[in-house]
Amino acid sequence: MSSADAAEVTDAELAAMHHAAGLARGIAGRTSPNPPVAAVILDPAGRRLGEGVTQPAGGEHAEVMALREVGEAARGATAVVTLEPCNHTGRTGPCTEALLAAGITRVVFAVSDPNPLAAGGGDRLRAAGVEVVAGPARELVAEGALRPWLHSVALSRPFVTWKFASTLDGRSAAADGTSKWISNPVSRTDVHELRDIVDAIVVGSNTVLLDDPQLTVRGVGGAADGELTQRQPLRVVIDRRHRVPPDAQIFDDAAETLVLDTAVPRFALKALYDRGIRHVLLEGGATLAGAFLEAGLVDEVVAYIAPKLLGAGPAALNDAGITSMVDAVTLEVSDVIRLGDDVKIVARPSRPAGQEE
Ligand SMILES: NC(=O)c1ccc[n+]([C@@H]2O[C@H](COP(=O)([O-])OP(=O)(O)OC[C@H]3O[C@@H](n4cnc5c(N)ncnc54)[C@H](OP(=O)(O)O)[C@@H]3O)[C@@H](O)[C@H]2O)c1
Repeated sequence: MSSADAAEVTDAELAAMHHAAGLARGIAGRTSPNPPVAAVILDPAGRRLGEGVTQPAGGEHAEVMALREVGEAARGATAVVTLEPCNHTGRTGPCTEALLAAGITRVVFAVSDPNPLAAGGGDRLRAAGVEVVAGPARELVAEGALRPWLHSVALSRPFVTWKFASTLDGRSAAADGTSKWISNPVSRTDVHELRDIVDAIVVGSNTVLLDDPQLTVRGVGGAADGELTQRQPLRVVIDRRHRVPPDAQIFDDAAETLVLDTAVPRFALKALYDRGIRHVLLEGGATLAGAFLEAGLVDEVVAYIAPKLLGAGPAALNDAGITSMVDAVTLEVSDVIRLGDDVKIVARPSRPAGQEE
């Protein structure tokens, strides 16, 4: 974005973009393989006429939803959109044409579409005489709800968030194998919030064999305490030797479950990408997490650290092929949050994006 572009934006448009970024956060995990996008329509005086968000895959895009709400009043109005309007016919028609047909005369978008199939929307609109401003609040949007999708389009694999809970001395279970309730109830609810915004939850076979987890989203997103949330992410177990028994809880009918028997995390991610998965939550255990980290396939780390000491028991992370301090994976911390007495740390490996071994 050039500074000239930024200067062209009105305060009302900037406020609308911030509002749209918030709306987009509310649909994270519900649109894949499409991006979570929001659009706001403003009249020439900067008043909000309507808004819309991308519908689940196969449904309408944000611009069309917003235009539908606004109707005839869209003539001569401005569309503020978090992502460049798409310029191709997929399961729905191009948003560029919908904006033109509705009589929108100005479009402000934050992030250019990196998907070569859908890109060129800005140019198409300009060519049709629409005033187009690209780039306002780009960072806010690109680092917000769109981040996993942008990453996955750039790398042709899902964005991977590795989540773990450990004691202060880095143990993910006690020596006797008990691992339940390391973190406190506030942290556990937070994990459900995290599950609620991803497309798939991935675990290794041992985690299923030892813990028999449900791997569902419960008690958040409008569901009552302990109850299943309406949308559930795909449950994935990487089980090379087919050791997980059919009566494991992950095979109940609360959500869909996929068993992958590949030993190569990259192939597992490719299989998930091909199914439309754009954001994966890697929930352990330590062995599988080590394999992902070694392959350079962890994009974000979310750690719940409980103020407990065990002194013995399995580590939160097993061998990741690192033998010397100079090879340690260095993380850039983006958030440190107190959840009761637990501490949540959100960080990302500081290697440049896309640099994988
Ligand atoms: N505190 C936490 O946040 C947390 C979260 C989850 C789990 N846990 C704890 O972690 C423990 C289980 O962890 P774990 O380390 O024993 O097992 P794990 O990581 O869940 O599973 C390891 C297994 O995954 C399979 N696997 C598939 N692809 C692999 C690859 N590329 N590299 C390595 N393994 C691959 C292997 O089994 P096959 O050869 O049979 O395929 C391997 O033995 C449990 O005690 C659980 O309670 C803690």
